[in-house]
Amino acid sequence: MNLVTLKDWSAEEVATVLEVSLAMKADPDRFDGTMKGKNLALLFQKTSTRTRYSSEIGMLQLGGQAVYLDWDVTNFGLADLADEIKVLSLYSDLMLVRLLKHADVLKATAASRVPVMNGCCDRYHPLQGLADIMTIREAVGRLDGIRLTYVGVRNNVCNSLVAAGVKVGMHVTAVTPEVNPAAADEALYEEARRVGLFDEEDDLAAALARSDVVYTDTWIDMEYFTDPDFAVEKERRLALFQPYQLNAETLGSHKVRIMHCLPAHRGYEIDGAILNDPRSIIFDQAENRLHSQKAVILKLAGKLL
Ligand code: CP
Ligand code: NVA
Repeated sequence: MNLVTLKDWSAEEVATVLEVSLAMKADPDRFDGTMKGKNLALLFQKTSTRTRYSSEIGMLQLGGQAVYLDWDVTNFGLADLADEIKVLSLYSDLMLVRLLKHADVLKATAASRVPVMNGCCDRYHPLQGLADIMTIREAVGRLDGIRLTYVGVRNNVCNSLVAAGVKVGMHVTAVTPEVNPAAADEALYEEARRVGLFDEEDDLAAALARSDVVYTDTWIDMEYFTDPDFAVEKERRLALFQPYQLNAETLGSHKVRIMHCLPAHRGYEIDGAILNDPRSIIFDQAENRLHSQKAVILKLAGKLL
């Protein structure tokens, strides 16, 4: 079993990992030694704080170990991806890859002899989606019938929230004036709309008035950092999205939980003060990356039913 996108998982598989994530947080000692002697390979083509560290520490806490490989100081840059992944998988029990392109995640998954987790490509960020639904469940007490507004660029994180929402009955409203072209997934949104769990709204205030949660993310996803036209694209996006910043004015007195996958770009998609607003659950969300990461590791290692 792999985790490339939550679209590939059944509602039952998502529910199992959600329950184990909550149990992991409540009583981590119960899972001591469950990955004893096992090794997780972490291959990163992009930067990371949460995904890398929660995976390394998570494996250690479960009794196993993780080894970090930076794309730039390995031979991934000069060899065929499938060859290098195959070799890596021969030394490992599990693999997590953070690659720029979704097509490369699929290539890696096909080449690997062991289960692969997608640690965030240009199209999906399923590990984030699982931590997000865990956090909402913890904060609100349920997921079915919850309404979440996602504001900003429709990107990998938005896709993963919609994919998770479909599995747990959570409705997503997108206030997204633009779709990140690399993240486009019409079929996902068609399916979510068909089952009544997705719609679009131009007016952020109107969306917030009927939401339990509001979520934002960067206006410039990491794959743009290697784009030679980045400077032009950055200026264009900052101007377009400024009215959609989460701040005291746009949030008003709406009774919504506030989420952000982090890293936050203070003063851009979110005003810095909002991270510590009483309505913010952003740091619980970040903490939950660890607990849910450990649950995913156990799931992919075949340790959960
Ligand atoms: N949210 C998230 O994936 O953070 P990192 O990029 O730091 O891993
Ligand atoms: N959407 C962001 C997520 C970072 C964790 C990006 O891809 O850069």
